[in-house]
Amino acid sequence: MLRPVNDSDFEFAYDFYMDSRVNPFMSFEVMSKGDFKDIWDELKGSSFFLAFDDQNKNLVGLCTLKKSVRRSAHVARLGSLVVNPSLQRQGIGKSFMKELFRFSLEKGIRRLDLMVEEDNVQAINFYKKLDFVEEGRLSHYFKRESSPQFVSEVLMAKFLSG
Ligand SMILES: CC(C)(COP(=O)(O)OP(=O)(O)OC[C@H]1O[C@@H](n2cnc3c(N)ncnc32)[C@H](O)[C@@H]1OP(=O)(O)O)[C@@H](O)C(=O)NCCC(=O)NCCS
Repeated sequence: MLRPVNDSDFEFAYDFYMDSRVNPFMSFEVMSKGDFKDIWDELKGSSFFLAFDDQNKNLVGLCTLKKSVRRSAHVARLGSLVVNPSLQRQGIGKSFMKELFRFSLEKGIRRLDLMVEEDNVQAINFYKKLDFVEEGRLSHYFKRESSPQFVSEVLMAKFLSG
């Protein structure tokens, strides 16, 4: 079930985002819980910061949506998507996105776009499976503290119909 994030999700969110299987693909480095509070506030400042619960009401996923305005008011940018690293590859991400598509349409969003690092093969496969298409690349856009390499971003988008 999709719902707005609340402050009781903080601990789970911290654990998910700092996990070594997830953090390399986020826009922030591994940090202390205290420092993560600023990131948390930033994420909460998105148009929508959403949680996905399983049938037992356990938090299993998170993402943000940043809605554009005026003549692009039908556009939103998907970000900080994560599925509980211990529960990946079980179809949760797909169910999460299906609900997100319905939610987006209800909010008048018809185009979803996102940026994904070109070395994030699992996420690129995931988005392709959901019919996102590549629209271009932003070269040397992303850099992890752990590596001297700059990484390019793949811009992907999906037009929602319904
Ligand atoms: C990307 C992510 C959200 C996918 O969530 P998930 O619950 O594992 O995905 P699903 O189980 O619903 O997978 C759906 C499809 O995506 C593709 N996919 C997912 N994980 C994959 C992997 N590790 N390798 C290859 N393809 C993969 C497959 O096509 C899969 O379908 P299949 O299992 O029938 O083959 C999850 O891997 C994640 O949180 N990754 C770390 C954070 C991240 O990269 N976020 C995206 C930032 S842009």
